[in-house]
Amino acid sequence: MCGIIGYIGSEKASPILLRGLINLEYRGYDSAGMAILNSKGVECKKAAGKIEEIHKRLNFLDLEGDIGIAHNRWATHGEVNDINAHPHFDSTKTIAIVHNGIIENYRELKEKLSTHTFESETDSEVIAHLIEEELKRGLSFEEAFISTISQLEGNYAILAIKNGEEKILAARKGSPLVVGIADHGTFLSSDIPSFLEYTKKVVYLQDYDVVVATKNGVRIYNLSGNEVSRPVDTVEWDAEQIKKGGFEHYMLKEILEQSETIQRAIQQDESVVNRIADEIREAYGIFFVGCGSSYHACLTGSYLFSKIANTHVNVALASEFENYEHFLTENTLVFAISQSGETADVLEAVRAAKIRGSRVIGIVNKMGSSLTRESDEFLLMNAGPEICVLSTKTYTSQVALMALLAYALAGKYEDGVNRLQGLYMDIYNLTSRSMREHLRYLAEMLVNEEHIYLIGRGLQYATAMEGALKIKEVSYIHAEAFAGGELKHGPLALIEDGTPVMVFVARDNEKKVISNASEVKARGGFIIGVSADRHEVFDYWVKVPECEDLNPIAQIIPIQILAYQLAVLKGLDPDKPRNLAKSVTVI
Ligand code: M6R
Repeated sequence: MCGIIGYIGSEKASPILLRGLINLEYRGYDSAGMAILNSKGVECKKAAGKIEEIHKRLNFLDLEGDIGIAHNRWATHGEVNDINAHPHFDSTKTIAIVHNGIIENYRELKEKLSTHTFESETDSEVIAHLIEEELKRGLSFEEAFISTISQLEGNYAILAIKNGEEKILAARKGSPLVVGIADHGTFLSSDIPSFLEYTKKVVYLQDYDVVVATKNGVRIYNLSGNEVSRPVDTVEWDAEQIKKGGFEHYMLKEILEQSETIQRAIQQDESVVNRIADEIREAYGIFFVGCGSSYHACLTGSYLFSKIANTHVNVALASEFENYEHFLTENTLVFAISQSGETADVLEAVRAAKIRGSRVIGIVNKMGSSLTRESDEFLLMNAGPEICVLSTKTYTSQVALMALLAYALAGKYEDGVNRLQGLYMDIYNLTSRSMREHLRYLAEMLVNEEHIYLIGRGLQYATAMEGALKIKEVSYIHAEAFAGGELKHGPLALIEDGTPVMVFVARDNEKKVISNASEVKARGGFIIGVSADRHEVFDYWVKVPECEDLNPIAQIIPIQILAYQLAVLKGLDPDKPRNLAKSVTVI
């Protein structure tokens, strides 16, 4: 999703903003641009394409000045081209803005500005023109900005600069925006990694906050123009943590971190987890809601709750949750699962639940994200920054937290912690060099396949679904998961000589799933077993430890590695799959 960054201070802004844009690349983008305020006015460079390529062509560093704003665009309104890239200007070319989010009423606003000529097809450009119009009424830059913001419907994080005004104005509603406070200046950005190498001091903004950043510091106001106070926090992440740690790609680095991140996920306050377990017992209706991998963690969680704690939960894709909203009451408990805490569909589900008086508990990685602010309570995954667009370590942390809750619900918190702690060496071995080589060999066998199918039952079905998502999103090979028992109801028709089918086996359900594998084999399928024991039906075996309830964590790790190897073999960038974004802040 779009990333924005602004800087005002004593240093030259363009190199800082360029680094910031590169650090925000993980959010996904298709265009980039920068506007700098200097003695010549507001100078701008922008284009569609990769930041490095744009920089090579246009050289952002030519822009002199110590106040500037920059943007990575991920197209929503208007095609991907140079003109639609941000920053956007008003008609006088003295006001530049960058915007993340969607202005829902931009058409109506444009109609109001019928005398203005718009250059782009974006919803965002209207913001600069509105400020211009408000200035014509004799308002100050700040007043014009606030008045403009008050007219916007939708979601936004906006930065604005104006010729002759030594300041950056900013506002947020629904889209992330944080302030970074360094000795030499102030940052305004969609995400902390963009400025983490300069400062760890951050201010998390709230919806409808308006920021005036000058060389003397930052002041925050509400839409009525009254100053508000927000605490300054210190982030725990250091700059090293967000770098690749010597690996070629973040994806591999993050996969390898999982022996540690599972241990960090279970660093919870026992009394809080047990109290949440009490709430689950008392609730009338429980929902797990998430998207993508987080949805698969929800599905895994529902099997774990059933298996470990004999408790039924409803699982819903956040984007489908509106179809179940009428079941929500004040006694319903909704768990919203999201690594970023910014996924628009999840936040919409949270808001719908709260309107009906349901209690919302977030399971989230990003402290300060919208989900941490909007849920009634949240558990942090503590997985550290995940830069690769694919969820790997955050997925297993989500599953670990689901398992911990299930154990607490069964009155076995300690047992749960011990079991999860026991995964440390298992995961270490699963990510070892020899395992990676074994999976590289498998990837070489599969790299030219058009289709890969994955089957499992119960917990292993949820793992198959997550495995299929990993393979397809990073290698672009079509991968699809089926519940083992469903094969004969249709999918068997897809099996031809050599069709690769991965089979996830746990000791407690091996009979049935091995019989499903045999059905596939009898039709020519090539069977890749993922299990603790070798079975005759396997053509290739990926040995994983038997971890019982925690199999979903152990069994997904080889598939994450396989997906990574497939992408690398195909010459793709595993950290930035095409068409995808790390944080999906639009519906
Ligand atoms: O930040 P969230 O966990 O809410 O994100 C949900 C999905 O967008 C995310 O899991 C997505 O499916 C990833 N690309 C999976 O690797």
